[in-house]
Amino acid sequence: RAKIAVVGGGSTYTPELVDGFARLRETLPIGELVLVDPAAGRLELVGGLARRIFARQGHPGTITTTADLDAGVAGADAVLLQLRVGGQAAREEDETWPLECGCVGQETTGAGGLAKALRTVPVVLDIAERVRRAAPGAWIVDFTNPVGIVTRALLRAGHRAVGLCNVAIGLQRKFAALLAASPGDVHLDHVGLNHLTWEAGVRLGGPGGENILPRLLAEHGDTIARDLRLPRQILDRLGVVPSYYLRYFYAHDAVVGEMRTRPSRAAEVAAMEQRLLEMYGDPSLDEKPALLAQRGGAYYSEAAVDLVASLLGGTGSPYQVVNTYNNGTLPFLPDDAVVEVQAAVGTKGAAPLPLPDVDPLYGGLIANVTAYEELALQAALCGGRDRVFKAMLAHPLIGQYEYAEALTDRLVAHNREHLPWA
Ligand code: G6P
Ligand code: MN
Repeated sequence: RAKIAVVGGGSTYTPELVDGFARLRETLPIGELVLVDPAAGRLELVGGLARRIFARQGHPGTITTTADLDAGVAGADAVLLQLRVGGQAAREEDETWPLECGCVGQETTGAGGLAKALRTVPVVLDIAERVRRAAPGAWIVDFTNPVGIVTRALLRAGHRAVGLCNVAIGLQRKFAALLAASPGDVHLDHVGLNHLTWEAGVRLGGPGGENILPRLLAEHGDTIARDLRLPRQILDRLGVVPSYYLRYFYAHDAVVGEMRTRPSRAAEVAAMEQRLLEMYGDPSLDEKPALLAQRGGAYYSEAAVDLVASLLGGTGSPYQVVNTYNNGTLPFLPDDAVVEVQAAVGTKGAAPLPLPDVDPLYGGLIANVTAYEELALQAALCGGRDRVFKAMLAHPLIGQYEYAEALTDRLVAHNREHLPWA
């Protein structure tokens, strides 16, 4: 029975994870779950509900809570990272100041995502070093955004890490419902980088199955386009299904216009978190509340269980979409770029499956953002205004030097307390 530690365990998302651990305990038998978080108040509320969820579902594992990272992760088999440096308040800023320059304000895409990377990479690397000492050989599963850049940082530093996001599992579930198939039978040719992906093929039965994407688009293109909030025509012209994050590129100016007239997502989420924490404090609540489904993290617990089960015992799905080293999978990218693709996952880690050739229609954007991610990592590791400026200049949604200068000034001004060099 495994020991799992969750860093950022006081997140309001945690009951989703715990519900998955409880429901899927045959796939991943857990003996001890440790929720690690510096926010004592939250941790107590979340930990209480987590224990009630385990009790209601008759799960034999124990759940403990602690603010002591080293003690919490000691001897763990797997450590999940789901922290947010600066909380929703920092996210709110990331979503707001880029709009002053006419650029999208988003937690992982564009200038706001760069700010998040700069705040987050040093913190995650410090945690990973402490995991290496307290739990040698443990797997690190990173949900902490921006997942592509954070996973790059972890792998570059030699950690046993895999990056994970729920976008692919969400599409797999959606396509399965449209096709009246079981999710496990739907295999995606998922291509790109975290939050910059396209489904280039949809296969039934496994990687060698027939590609039924043309049929899926012909029969359900309108539904898929509506969910993505993109015109149907764009899907037909692409011939593949982009993730909803591509709307920030394909409809950038329209999205900026919308964002200027609405409260930020961070503000919405902060209000939801208040309500969720009040609910978690109710001792009669012993399941995840429906309100949690309004967060973006649908199915993230199932993706986590599947991945950890495969890494620890080979008992999850044989193929899963993860973030890991490219190693030639996309031949136009460096081997040490981190890509988000379908991989064979087992106790030795994740090995990407071969993919069909990538259409230049979106391959160029993948290459461009890969270059940006490298520069963002350098800026996060070494600091300095000049490195931040270069990452901005290389980002396909920024590009012009005047915007890059103005956004760099704002990023620095809003993040001084998190950036020792600023
Ligand atoms: C999806 C993304 C996550 C992201 C989340 C935001 O799940 O894959 O990486 O953090 O959406 O959801 P929220 O409810 O916080 O806006
Ligand atoms: Mn994600």
